[in-house]
Amino acid sequence: MSNQTATARAHTNIALIKYWGKTNSKLTIPTTSSLSLTLDHFYTETSVTFQPELQHDQIIFNQKLLSEKQARRISNFLDLVRIQSNCQAYALVETVNHVPTAAGLASSASGFAALAAAASRASGMDLSNKELSRLARKGSGSATRSIYGGLVEWRHGIGDHSSYAMPLSESPQWDLVVIALLFDKKQKQISSTIGMERSKQTSPYYQDWVKQSALDLKQIKRAIHHQDFTSFGEIVEANAMNMHALTISAQPSYTYFNGQTIQAMELVQQLRKQGIPVYFTLDAGPNLKIILQRSNLAAVKARLTSVFGQDQYVVVAAGPGIQYLK
Ligand code: DP6
Repeated sequence: MSNQTATARAHTNIALIKYWGKTNSKLTIPTTSSLSLTLDHFYTETSVTFQPELQHDQIIFNQKLLSEKQARRISNFLDLVRIQSNCQAYALVETVNHVPTAAGLASSASGFAALAAAASRASGMDLSNKELSRLARKGSGSATRSIYGGLVEWRHGIGDHSSYAMPLSESPQWDLVVIALLFDKKQKQISSTIGMERSKQTSPYYQDWVKQSALDLKQIKRAIHHQDFTSFGEIVEANAMNMHALTISAQPSYTYFNGQTIQAMELVQQLRKQGIPVYFTLDAGPNLKIILQRSNLAAVKARLTSVFGQDQYVVVAAGPGIQYLK
């Protein structure tokens, strides 16, 4: 067997049409299709070496060796790679996360995308992007989309073979930027995995959300086709709010919003009233992401700086797909 190191870089993504629930948890088959934008500034770099002399997997995360318990999710994922590649050895994994935890972006997206790419190469496999997307999916749903750059669609499919991501066929002409607000550095109380399952099991609106999500995806593609930024933004914002309604309507109810989230939502609404087309979305955390065209960046930044201060946000744009570094 090979004893080679492979290193990969994957960027994180922000969901514009959300994934929020699974029909099969073991294989991570989602209840809905989703759409995301891969981001340029936030990424994870991971090196993997399978070493026959190791007694168990060794995971070094941001220069710290993880305990077996902390490493379990990664080790379980490496088991899948071992089965697929017929490789018996344990692995040394070194991973560095360039996603500020404060950004509230799913670092599991870039994390498992980079791990899937590096581990599959190190084990001797040469997977296509489609196969890589399917593999990353089994680590974390949002990782399915981080294999590709720009706007990416993950079609839910009906099983392992049909559930994977692909780049969106049409790109908008507008120069999309995202302002990530950095409110909360704390780890989220309720992980996405647990949160989405609770919503699916207990929210009375879950099935309506599944239906609405399919409609949202169809309409956002239409908006992109017609170069209609207003509709695009309205759909993104409504889709996010519908997802978050599933947390509030779950039993027991919960929310990822905090006071600053609401304050920032109101600020976005005020900017719109002044005629600036800006919209928001947010994933499983309090940090709002503002979606706008670059032509309005200066005006929006000035406003955010006066309300929250200039250390409380980062401006990002579309980023690339998976990269192999060695
Ligand atoms: C709100 O991919 O973190 O960011 O598949 O259980 O690992 P698991 O969940 P995860 O969920 C992401 C949820 C979301 C929406 C999205 O990225 O589409």
